[in-house]
Amino acid sequence: MFRIHRSLVTLFLVPAFLAPSVAFAADGKAVFLDKKCNKCHTVSSASIEKTSKLKGPDLTTEPIKGDAKLLKGYLKKQEVINAKKHGTAFTGSDEELDAVIAWVLQQNKAKK
Ligand code: HEC
Repeated sequence: MFRIHRSLVTLFLVPAFLAPSVAFAADGKAVFLDKKCNKCHTVSSASIEKTSKLKGPDLTTEPIKGDAKLLKGYLKKQEVINAKKHGTAFTGSDEELDAVIAWVLQQNKAKK
């Protein structure tokens, strides 16, 4: 009886402990597509095409001026780059924003 009980506890508790770490590990590329950044940006290194005629630089070949910290403010429309605010304000969580910025910076191959 005790043995059955203990395995049941393990069965339910282990996934409960693992779940938060899974939820925090947002996939930057998935966020990029989910938030429709590809309406305006191509990412040639990841074969991501634009889905509209709106303008935006290719995030692989065009230099990205901001570092992760500045981009975080910029993508929330709180900071300016090139004396302009970004076209859209990010609507997801902070974790998703960090993940998408890290992914975009990783894709960028332009010389600074
Ligand atoms: C409505 C069109 C549009 C959408 C949607 C859009 N962008 Fe942009 N983005 C732009 C334009 C235009 C620029 C270039 C502005 C300039 O040249 O100053 C830009 C610039 C950038 C830059 C370069 C900043 C730098 O430091 O030079 C990054 C990085 C970026 N966007 C990421 C994203 C991400 C991530 C998303 C999705 C969350 C997104 N963009 C969605 C239009 C868009």
